[in-house]
Amino acid sequence: MSSSSTSSDSAVVSEIEEFAADVAAGLSRAAKTLPSKYFYDQRGSQLFDQICELPEYYPTRTELGIMQQYADEMGRQIGSGAMVIEFGSGSSVKTRILLDHLVDPAAYVPVDVSYEHLHATARQLTKAYPGLDILPVCADFTRPFDLPAASQLETHDAVYFPGSTIGNFEQADALGLLEHIVSLCGSGGGLLVGIDLQKDVDVLEAAYNDAQGVTAEFNLNLLHRINRQLEGDVQVDQFRHQAVYNHEIGRIEMYLISKVDQAATIRGDQYTFAAGERICTEYSHKYTVESFAKMAESAGLTLRRQWLDDEEYFAVLHLALLD
Ligand code: AVJ
Repeated sequence: MSSSSTSSDSAVVSEIEEFAADVAAGLSRAAKTLPSKYFYDQRGSQLFDQICELPEYYPTRTELGIMQQYADEMGRQIGSGAMVIEFGSGSSVKTRILLDHLVDPAAYVPVDVSYEHLHATARQLTKAYPGLDILPVCADFTRPFDLPAASQLETHDAVYFPGSTIGNFEQADALGLLEHIVSLCGSGGGLLVGIDLQKDVDVLEAAYNDAQGVTAEFNLNLLHRINRQLEGDVQVDQFRHQAVYNHEIGRIEMYLISKVDQAATIRGDQYTFAAGERICTEYSHKYTVESFAKMAESAGLTLRRQWLDDEEYFAVLHLALLD
């Protein structure tokens, strides 16, 4: 989608067309895939909120704890006069904690593809932070977009990328995203990023195969979304959810597994699924601070500070552009 969509209707239309193209491409491959970014329709976002409350799903509450404990240090680390650009709509509690601790920020720029969600949270934040310039940008943050002009004195740019969302990208794409952040910020810029850390495989797999089956429902909702938005007739109850940890690569891999030999029609095209065949729906990479810092270094970012919880499950890192 273009970064300059101003009408919510045309944004929704192109979002669905892109979804259709991505589904067709992903299901036509020998190893079938569906992009994880499509999990978050209205139902999927509700389910994700439920996931964040699950006893097994530690990332959200752990990152929140780190923010609560260290946000003042983060604010000082980012420094005064920053335009803070968030990759995501800024609707999370973590955003407000950071905003509460910024030192004389020039502006806050939430960047999100969902026009409705972006502007709803921007309105709420404008009310809650009357002295702060809130400048929402409707764009896909994985693609180049223009930054708005701040009306306050701006000394540098800093990207805030919470939620370990960067873990959804494969190594090459994560690196590309970091390079994009570097060119977006320019000299003096920085990045505050949340990453999920490598840990005991049982803890990791439990977090993505919860006892209540909420993650399963979240994964299967992708098929329901295909049925709803792309005139699909996928038999959702003939698929099951599975998440496994890939030790070699250091990532959780989520799959939808066909229970039987079956076929489905999506927008008039037929797709077949063999019994036991898997559709890969998400990667969630787990790093060490060192492995992430090494990748960031090759994009031109140097690790300046790190904040971890006591169990060392999650880290928030501040990285700065090399001059
Ligand atoms: C939102 C990308 C951080 O990878 O842990 C949660 C998404 N998937 N349960 C993650 C997710 C299954 C989540 N992120």
